[in-house]
Amino acid sequence: MPVYYSQEERAPKVEELFTKIARRYDLINDVQSFGMHRVWKRRLLELAEIRSGDRVLDLATGTGDLIRMGRGRVPASGWVGVDFTYAMLRSATKGSPLVQGDILKLPICDESFSAATMAYGLRNLADRSRALAEIRRVLKPGGRFVFLEFAKPRLKWMRRLYFIWLRAVQPFLGWLFFRDSETYRYIWRSLSEYPEVDAVCRELEAAGFRSVEAHRLFAGMMSIHVAVT
Ligand SMILES: C[S@@+](CC[C@H](N)C(=O)[O-])C[C@H]1O[C@@H](n2cnc3c(N)ncnc32)[C@H](O)[C@@H]1O
Repeated sequence: MPVYYSQEERAPKVEELFTKIARRYDLINDVQSFGMHRVWKRRLLELAEIRSGDRVLDLATGTGDLIRMGRGRVPASGWVGVDFTYAMLRSATKGSPLVQGDILKLPICDESFSAATMAYGLRNLADRSRALAEIRRVLKPGGRFVFLEFAKPRLKWMRRLYFIWLRAVQPFLGWLFFRDSETYRYIWRSLSEYPEVDAVCRELEAAGFRSVEAHRLFAGMMSIHVAVT
């Protein structure tokens, strides 16, 4: 299976990839980040400033771990998860409504959520500007959009090391869990194509978001962006 795709092929191929790995997705996430993804997600939730009574939309929710953590943090918040891969949603924790749908065409009314969150979703999308317009549409005025994504360290030597690590470890994990080393090559390929942290800020501003902030985590290997409608 090819591991990086043109814009037209991206959605079906990404869905195919996540259908394949859904059953073991959470385990692989823990293994490849040494459990650190939970720390970064906690930081995302802090920055989302969710309050009791808020309605929060978790985009690219996958197996819904952000929803689980968000509900634990603010029990009186109401969460809805959206993802287009049925197999990922099927593995998700029950307790919040889950919608099978495409972020590029959200089946959600205008201005209906106080906040939107997303972890490791934006890099996978075929059309980021369309996605950002959709996310802005469904947020109430003053609503916060907060997302976590892989990023490229600023220091050249560290960036090189990071990519060597990703290129070596990802195929190994693919082979270990699926006997298919191609499957997990997707991360570093998609990260090479993903814009720099500052360029993502400009994309958010171009989409009409304001008060855009970027937080670099873990020596710049991860980033969290915050943007307000
Ligand atoms: C890397 S997983 C992230 C899952 C979860 N948020 C996490 O942090 O573990 C990316 C998810 O995005 C979903 N996805 C990718 N493109 C999408 C789109 N256009 N619309 C809805 N979901 C999409 C995939 O199905 C997959 O479940």
